[in-house]
Amino acid sequence: MAIVDQNRAGLTVPHAVTVPDRIPKQRYYDAGFYKLENEHLWPRVWQMACRLEEIPNPFDFVEYEILDQSVVVVRTEDLGVTAFQNSCRHRGVKVALGHGSCEQGFTCPFHGWCYGPDGTNVGVPRRRSFSEHNLQRGDLDLVPVRCETWGGCAWINLDPSAPPLRDCLEPFATSLDTWKVESLQTEWWYACRLPVNWKAAIEAFVEAYHVPQSHPQLVIPTRYGLRPGEQFDPVAFIDSDIQYLRAMSEGMAGMVHADDVAVAEGLRGTELPADAAEAMAAWNHTLNDAVTQWHRERGADIPDIDDLAAQGLNLEFFQGFPNYFVLPMYSSASAYRFRPLGPEETLMEIWSLTRPAAGEERPVPTPPEVWSHDDPRWPPIPTQDFANIPRQQRGLHARGFEFMRLSEGLEGHVSNFERTIDGYLAGLPHEQLVPALHEVNVYPFDKPIVDLGF
Ligand code: FES
Ligand SMILES: [Fe+2]
Repeated sequence: MAIVDQNRAGLTVPHAVTVPDRIPKQRYYDAGFYKLENEHLWPRVWQMACRLEEIPNPFDFVEYEILDQSVVVVRTEDLGVTAFQNSCRHRGVKVALGHGSCEQGFTCPFHGWCYGPDGTNVGVPRRRSFSEHNLQRGDLDLVPVRCETWGGCAWINLDPSAPPLRDCLEPFATSLDTWKVESLQTEWWYACRLPVNWKAAIEAFVEAYHVPQSHPQLVIPTRYGLRPGEQFDPVAFIDSDIQYLRAMSEGMAGMVHADDVAVAEGLRGTELPADAAEAMAAWNHTLNDAVTQWHRERGADIPDIDDLAAQGLNLEFFQGFPNYFVLPMYSSASAYRFRPLGPEETLMEIWSLTRPAAGEERPVPTPPEVWSHDDPRWPPIPTQDFANIPRQQRGLHARGFEFMRLSEGLEGHVSNFERTIDGYLAGLPHEQLVPALHEVNVYPFDKPIVDLGF
């Protein structure tokens, strides 16, 4: 066993993870636990509020909702991004809904109080009917919310004393900067309502242990090694690798971008060494270089994929604690965001992100229609995951089931993630939490349980 946390006894978190590879089931449905998360986790963490291409022009705004909080994120005139709480200072009506432009500011629909695009109060009808203490300067402005940008996204934090965004996103941020994540733009955006706890939803996507059973079509020799005694055949190898890329493109609906699959198709006749290991390495270099070159020829901002593959920045999952993911695959990426809608209900969004050609104008992305988890429009791989998790959520309630039994070697990330949550629920100070974030925001996912320092 990796760690028995001596300090854990001091925490007052109910259903805390006391044995690191055993996760108590109540964390996934108990109303009291959910309430603790709402009070001590969500108000203290950085959350991806929108993609910057949703608000391309000055005065564009979007509303970001988390639990019972609504935040307005605004592109300012000098192209910075700012945010404030979405609540009229008179009687609390939301001043903004959805998305739009606030060049004229915001006018509350109830009694007409007016706010500038920066949230400053600029008008109170029948002002003299209010007593002086309800008209104090500054007190009538929309309440600011911490907002920073990174990686092509605007992020908010409801905690004024939280450390800067970047401190909370490392080493995720530095890895993905090298990969030029900020140059990606939305190709498409889907949303799914899952009848499961938000953590169960996340944890279905953070290990490869489930792949052979849940996604047998991805178990392809090029990725999982030759069967014993199997003779290596370079032509068959290229064939099956392209089959894998296609499954990741169509099956995942864009996890590998269709452009990159087309580049791979063009490499079919490539001569490879007879030795299996040498052939696989040669193929990977050839494919990485061809993808890089194809995108550079259209003027896209792309790093040298082969260099980055050597650093592990390809075909990997990155989590930005608690609920945002980037999955770089060759030139492009998927991104996930998970938000709780109730103890056993989650909104999961999936983006396909890619690199625009030089000068390419893309349409402004708008929030997608939310599909149910069993909607027939989901492609095969999400369908497989979305079938498992609701079954898990039901099964967790079984009287005889007490806790999840994690593989210490393959599912350590789940434990590291859950124990970091416990740190928040215990009210630990940010200085103690940031090092734990650095353990969770790291790759690869198939990694062991680590000591988080609390
Ligand atoms: S609640 Fe906004 S003007 Fe009255
Ligand atoms: Fe999966």
